[in-house]
Amino acid sequence: MAQLWGGRFTKETDQLVYNFNASISFDKKFYKQDMEGSIAHVKMLGKQGILTEQEMNDIVKTIHEILTEVEEGKLEISHEYEDIHSFVEATLIDRLGDTGKKLHTGRSRNDQVALDMRLYTRQEVLAVDELLKELLNAILTIMENNTDTFMPGFTHLQKAQPVTLAHHVGAYFEMFKRDRLRLKDIYHRMNYCPLGSGALAGTTYPLDRDYTAELLGFYGPTLNSMDGVSDRDYLIEFLSAMSTIMMHLSRFSEEVIIWNSNEYQFVEIDDAYSTGSSIMPQKKNPDIAELVRGKTGRVYGALTALLTTMKGIPLAYNKDMQEDKELTFDAMDTVKGCIALFTGMLETMKFNKDKMEASAKNGFTNATDAADYLVNHGVPFRDAHGIVGRIVLYCIDKGISIDDMSLEELKEISPVFEEDIFEAISMDTCVNKRLTIGAPGQEAMKKVIAIEKDYLSKDWKDELTDWESKLMK
Ligand code: ARG
Repeated sequence: MAQLWGGRFTKETDQLVYNFNASISFDKKFYKQDMEGSIAHVKMLGKQGILTEQEMNDIVKTIHEILTEVEEGKLEISHEYEDIHSFVEATLIDRLGDTGKKLHTGRSRNDQVALDMRLYTRQEVLAVDELLKELLNAILTIMENNTDTFMPGFTHLQKAQPVTLAHHVGAYFEMFKRDRLRLKDIYHRMNYCPLGSGALAGTTYPLDRDYTAELLGFYGPTLNSMDGVSDRDYLIEFLSAMSTIMMHLSRFSEEVIIWNSNEYQFVEIDDAYSTGSSIMPQKKNPDIAELVRGKTGRVYGALTALLTTMKGIPLAYNKDMQEDKELTFDAMDTVKGCIALFTGMLETMKFNKDKMEASAKNGFTNATDAADYLVNHGVPFRDAHGIVGRIVLYCIDKGISIDDMSLEELKEISPVFEEDIFEAISMDTCVNKRLTIGAPGQEAMKKVIAIEKDYLSKDWKDELTDWESKLMK
C-alpha cells in the first residue's frame, strides 16, 4: 500500500478497503495525460514564482524521464500505488527528494483527475473522428462506383421502390457525417481546463489558470471551481455520441447480415472478415457484423451507467465519480474497434450487382410509377392506386411482374394505358427520373457525391493547435 495521505490516520487501511478504493489498475491508462498535466502545472508554478526556476526545471526534466521510461517499458506502473497520480508523485519524490514534494502545490487530485480524464477523452474524440472519416471514405467509394447499381429499397423489410446501392449506403454516409459533427461539438464544449479548481474552492496561491489552459491546448479555464472538479457532462455527451455511432453501425450490420444471407445473396463478406462453424462445414458466418451489433448494448450500458451514477451526487467531488473511467474506457475502445473492423469489412465486401438488380425487378417496386403514369394521363391518384392494386393482384395470380403483362392485358384493366407504359415503369425510369436532391436518380446522386467529396476534403481537426509538441519540447 502506497498512499499520499497517511498523516491524520492512526491505523493502516484494511487491505480489502485499499483494493476497493484503488484505481491504478485502470487510471494508469492516462499516465501520459497525468504527466503532461503536471508539466503544465509546474511550468505555471515556475512562471508565477511559486517554484524557483531551478525547481521547475528539475521537476519538468524528471517527469520527462519518468514518461520516457514508462513508454519504453523500462519503468513499470506498479499497482502498489493507489492511483496514477500517486505513482507519478512518489516516483518523482524518489528521484528528486524535497523538490519532488513541491509538485502538488496548489493542486488537488480532484482537479488533477478532472484534467486527466478530460485530456484523455479529448484525444479519443479526435481518434474516433478520424476513424469515422475513414469509414466515410469507404462509403463514398461504394457510392461513386454504384450510382447505376439498382437494388430494391425497403419499408417494413418489404420491397417498396427501386433505389441504387449508392443511394442506400449514402444514407449511412449522412448518419456517420452527423456523428462527426456531434464529436466536433463535444470537443468545443468540453475544451476548458479544470486544473486550478483545487479540491473544490480554488486556491490561495496566485495560479495563472489561463496560462495552464493555454499550455494544454484548452480555450481557457473552467469558470466555477466546484463545477470544474465535478462536471462529467462531457463524458455523458461523449458516451451518448458513442451510443449513436453504435446504433448506426448496428443498423448497417443488420443489413449486411441480411444481405449476406443465403436468401438475399446481395453481398459476399470477404473470407478475411468471416468465420466458420465448428460443425457445419458449409458455413461462412458474418460474425464481425454480429459482434458490432452485439457490442452496441455494451456501449449503451456505459451511457446509462454514468447517467445513473451522476444523478445523485451532491457538489462537489465524490468518489462515485471514479466510476466514470472503466466504463468510458471500455466504450471508447469498443467503438474504435467496431468502426475500424466495420470499415475493413466494407472495403473488402463484394456486391452481387446482378442479384440486387434481379431482386429490384420483382416485387412490384414499380407499382407507384405505374400509378403515377395513370395520374399523368388524367386519372385521379386514388383511382390510379386502385387500378394498379388490381394489376398487382392479377400478376400475383399469374406469377408475373407488371413489365411481363401485354398492353392488351393492361388495357383490359384500364384503357388509359398505351405502349409508353413500359418505358414509364422500366427500372431506369423508376430510379433515374427521381431527380430531386436526395433522391436516387443518377444525376441527383452525382451532385450529392460532389458535395460529400468536398466535405471530406476538409477536416475540422486541422484547425486545432499543436499544444502537445510545444509543451513537451
Ligand atoms: N481516483 C480518483 C478518481 O478517479 C482520483 C481523485 C481522488 N480524489 C479524492 N478526493 N479521493 O476520481
